[in-house]
Amino acid sequence: MFDHLKTLAASARERRILDLFAADPDRAARFSAGTGDMHFDYSKTLIDDEIRASLLKLCDEAGLAARRDEMFAGEKINETEGRAVLHTALRNLDGDPIEVDGGDVMPEVLETLRRMRVFAEEIRGGAAQGAGGGITDVVNIGIGGSDLGPVMATLALSPYHDGPRVHFVSNVDGAHIADILRPLDPTRTLVIVASKTFTTIETMTNARTARAWMQEGGGDPARQFAAVSSALDRTEAFGIPADRVFGFADWVGGRYSVWGPVGLPVLIAVGSYAFDAFLRGGQAMDLHFRSADWAENVPVMLALVGIWHRQVLGCASRAVLPYDQRLLRLPAYLQQLEMESNGKSVAMDGSALSAPCGPIIWGEPGTNGQHAFFQLIHQGTDVVPCEFLVAAEGHEPELAHHHRLLLANCLAQSEALMRGRSLDEARARTAAAGLTGEELERQARHRVFPGNRPSTTLIYPKLTPFVLGQIVALYEHRVFVEGTILGINSFDQWGVELGKELATSLGPLVDGEAGAEGKDGSTAALIAYALRYRS
Ligand code: F6P
Repeated sequence: MFDHLKTLAASARERRILDLFAADPDRAARFSAGTGDMHFDYSKTLIDDEIRASLLKLCDEAGLAARRDEMFAGEKINETEGRAVLHTALRNLDGDPIEVDGGDVMPEVLETLRRMRVFAEEIRGGAAQGAGGGITDVVNIGIGGSDLGPVMATLALSPYHDGPRVHFVSNVDGAHIADILRPLDPTRTLVIVASKTFTTIETMTNARTARAWMQEGGGDPARQFAAVSSALDRTEAFGIPADRVFGFADWVGGRYSVWGPVGLPVLIAVGSYAFDAFLRGGQAMDLHFRSADWAENVPVMLALVGIWHRQVLGCASRAVLPYDQRLLRLPAYLQQLEMESNGKSVAMDGSALSAPCGPIIWGEPGTNGQHAFFQLIHQGTDVVPCEFLVAAEGHEPELAHHHRLLLANCLAQSEALMRGRSLDEARARTAAAGLTGEELERQARHRVFPGNRPSTTLIYPKLTPFVLGQIVALYEHRVFVEGTILGINSFDQWGVELGKELATSLGPLVDGEAGAEGKDGSTAALIAYALRYRS
C-alpha cells in the first residue's frame, strides 16, 4: 500500500526542508489547510506535491468517504463489537435525525443533554444542596475515557470556570482518592461516578470508598451522588437515584465520550453557555470533515502527515507539544485516543497489519518541554515528528508579554528543528569563543544540530470553548482517517482485557489467601516480597 510512497521517501530523505522553501515562495500557503479561524501548517516537513498527491490517493484507495459517511449515518462500523460509532451525535445540536436499528437516536441525546444542563444549573445555583448546604466541590470518579476527556477539558477551560471546584479521581491507588478527599467537606461535595460499563474495578472501588467517606462525615449519598453510565441497571443497584443518572448508548466509545454525560463535570464547572460552545466547536469540525476536499480537509491532512511520518518514514513516536499550559493534559488524552484506537496488530478482516500501527504519542506543554526532552528531539539519533499547538493570544491581556514569549519560543523550536546548525556554523561559534585546533573541532561537533526535523503547527486565535471543541474533534477524525487507511477498527480495545483478567486472578495471591504455585518465578517472587513487607 505504501510502496510508491516509500520510493518517493528514498529521494525525499536526501532533500532539505529549507531548500523546499527556497524553491517555492508559496510553500507555507500551499502546504497548509484551515477551517474557520484555525490554521494547520505542515510545510515544515519533507512533503512535496508528488508525495501529497500520493498520500491523498490513499484516502480513495481506503474508501474513506464511504466509511466516513457510514460512521455519521450510524452504520455499525465497530464490527468486532457490532456497534455504531456515533459520538458525533452528542454534538449534533441541531438534532438532525440519525438512525440506529431503525430508530432516531437524537431525541434521547437531546433530552439527556437537557437534563444535564438542568442538573448542572441546580448544582451551580445552589438549588440542589448537600446535607450541609450548597455544593462547593465536585469529585468525578472515573478512569480512561471516563476521566481523561473531562480532566483535559476542565483544565483547558479554566478561564470560564464559575461553578464549584471540580476534582478528578482515577487511580485505584488509595493515595489518589485520599489526597483529593482530605480537604473536602463530605456534606457539601457532589460525587459523580463515571463509568460506561459501571464495572471497572478502579472506579467501583473508589466509588465505594467515597460513599463510605461521605456517610462517615455526615453527608448524604442519596443527594450527593450522581452517575454517568450506559449500564443503568448497575447504577440503580449501586443506589444512585434514577433522576441523577445520565445514560448514554453503547455507540459512544469511552475515549470519544467527553461530549455527552461524561462531560458533566465540565458542564458544572463552566456552565451551559460555554459547554454548548464546546459542542458547537466539535460540530463545526464535523461539518468541515464531511464537506471539505481531502487536500483542504484539516483532519485528513493531519492524518496523512501522520501516515507519512509513521508508516512511510518509520518514525516510531510523535510528540504533541501544546504551547498552551491549559492543554497540559492534552497529550495524555491523546495517548488514549490515538493509542487505544490505532494501537493494533490486526486489520478489520483479521489479517495481520501489513504496516506499522499508529505511533507512540507523548508530550508536554512548551516551554517546559524545552528544558527537559527537547535535547533528544534536536540532537538525538531518532527523528521525532513534532506537533505544535499554539494560540495567537492568551486569556491574560495584562500578561501579553508572557504570551509573546510563548509564541516566539514555539516558532523558534519549529524553525530550529528544520534549520539545524551545520558543522561550519558550529566551528565559527566555537572559534569565536576562543577555541582552536583539535579542541575547537571536538567542541564544534557537540554543537551541531542535524536539522531537517519535521514539525507541524496548529495555530488558533485563542483557547475558547469553541476552539477546544474543534481541536478535540479534529484529533478524533485524524484517528479515524489513519485507522481507515490502515484498515484498523479504531473503536475496540481488546488489548486492555488480558491485564484486567490477570489482576482479578492475582487478587487472592496478593491478599495472601492463595499460593503462587503455577505463577512464573518473577511474579511469585514479587508477591512474596510484597507479603513480607506488608504491615
Ligand atoms: O481499560 C480500558 C477502558 O475500557 C477504556 O476503553 C475506558 O475508557 C476505560 O476502560 C473506562 O471504562 P468505563 O468507563 O467502562 O469505566
